[in-house]
Amino acid sequence: MIEIKNLKKSFGKKAIIRGLDLTIPDHDFLAIIGRSGEGKSVFLKEIIGLIKPDEGQVLIDGIDVTKLTPKDAEKIYQKCGYVFQFAALLDSLNVFENIGITLLENNEPEEKVLPLVADKLKSVGLDQDILYKYPAELSGGMKKRVGLARTLMLSPEILIYDEPTTGLDPITVKIIHELIKKTQEKLNATTIVISHDIEVFKYAKRVAMLNEGKIVYVGPADTIWECKDPYIYQFIRGLKEGPIKIK
Ligand SMILES: Nc1ncnc2c1ncn2[C@@H]1O[C@H](COP(=O)(O)OP(=O)(O)O)[C@@H](O)[C@H]1O
Ligand SMILES: [Mg+2]
Repeated sequence: MIEIKNLKKSFGKKAIIRGLDLTIPDHDFLAIIGRSGEGKSVFLKEIIGLIKPDEGQVLIDGIDVTKLTPKDAEKIYQKCGYVFQFAALLDSLNVFENIGITLLENNEPEEKVLPLVADKLKSVGLDQDILYKYPAELSGGMKKRVGLARTLMLSPEILIYDEPTTGLDPITVKIIHELIKKTQEKLNATTIVISHDIEVFKYAKRVAMLNEGKIVYVGPADTIWECKDPYIYQFIRGLKEGPIKIK
């Protein structure tokens, strides 16, 4: 379980996360939505320790990861797989090297790593013939899948996706969402998807909305279109500024 309590983060004078509380049970499939620039990525990076919060707690299975030494924290973070917003592949490495990077860096022999990489490639629906291609030779959707395959190599208990469908065409968006769902079901990993793409409601179990540095709503995803919460009502219909009164 992940429990986030009174989390705060400012950059200079600008308060981004302003006292955020959220509990994410094991095996949840949670979509976190919010406008661009609201602090979704900052929030994610605080969960996995890439950004240190100014205040508050991030408890992962009861341990406050913000208080740990970097060495102890690493053990916890090994449970977390993070799929970056822009796939974050290394351009000078081919697909095989990108996916197998952690093992290859630990001097595992290539012939041992190859079948593992091939297996993960298959589980994200890609053919072996791209193993020796470079990121520049792949489409946007393929890069995202390779990014996911690399994360799956770590067998994470918590899987976090940052804007997995941004910049993709509608068909690829659907394929990526289905892949995220399939992966969630297969690994039974706690899955968090940060998105401003409302299509994600068709796949997630729950929705949380980030607004002005706080979670202003948490509820089920399947009934979101009937939701009368003013923040949600506006956001999913693309209505303008500020919370409105819903009759
Ligand atoms: N390392 C940083 N230093 C300074 N400002 C940052 C940093 N990271 C993010 N920000 C600022 O925090 C705000 C939220 O960013 P971000 O979390 O990327 O938004 P979102 O992911 O919701 O689109 C933005 O105004 C951004 O400029
Ligand atoms: Mg972001």
